[in-house]
Amino acid sequence: MEAKRVAAEKAVEYVADGMTVGLGTGSTTAYAIHKLGEMVKQGLKIKAVATSTRSETLAKELGIQLVAFADIDQIDLTIDGADEVDPEWNLIKGGGGALLREKIVAAASRRLIIIVDESKVVQRLGLFPLPVEVVPFGWELTMRKLANLGYNPRLRTENGKPYVTDNGNYILDCRIGLIDRPGQIHDRINSMVGVVDNGLFIGYASLVIVGYHDGTAKELPRKDEP
Ligand code: 5RP
Repeated sequence: MEAKRVAAEKAVEYVADGMTVGLGTGSTTAYAIHKLGEMVKQGLKIKAVATSTRSETLAKELGIQLVAFADIDQIDLTIDGADEVDPEWNLIKGGGGALLREKIVAAASRRLIIIVDESKVVQRLGLFPLPVEVVPFGWELTMRKLANLGYNPRLRTENGKPYVTDNGNYILDCRIGLIDRPGQIHDRINSMVGVVDNGLFIGYASLVIVGYHDGTAKELPRKDEP
């Protein structure tokens, strides 16, 4: 889709020779990985760390050199998508199921560029169901605890079976509704035994690039919290 592609192609302009680059997951990031593949063929020298087996496979196919997370100290720049972005650049991520590795890579990155099409920009997060990654052992109990908080969790499935993340966990998609204090919800969910992490990314983004259907891409101005 044009809007996703233009955002991705704007983001790769920030990639320079010698960088270690984090590769996010999803259809928008796939455009960025394809563009990086072209740039590598033309001589760009980068090393990359992938946030999912899907992105790793794609990067390998395109000839992008991958390094093990264990072998690097820091990532210069990560490019990743999002399911929702609010005016303070808080995000909901994990629609593609890669939220945990995405957050680990984001936390190790000097800069995180988020690329989205215009449909992802919202005034308040929460219409997109919040993915919560949980340990399979006792997931039913974890789900009941989330339900008791009014978060309306639903087990993510694939071909009639629980969807399993790259880390061997399950995902509970929570229909919370519009979120007033994302930081509070993030902490409340993550303090629950059985929860590994949730898809709220607070304070990680360094830049948000929005692609529009007219083929333009613009940086999203950031409104700071009062
Ligand atoms: C995967 C993600 C993705 O970045 C998010 O779901 C957006 O995906 P897409 O670019 O396909 O719309 O968080 O875990």
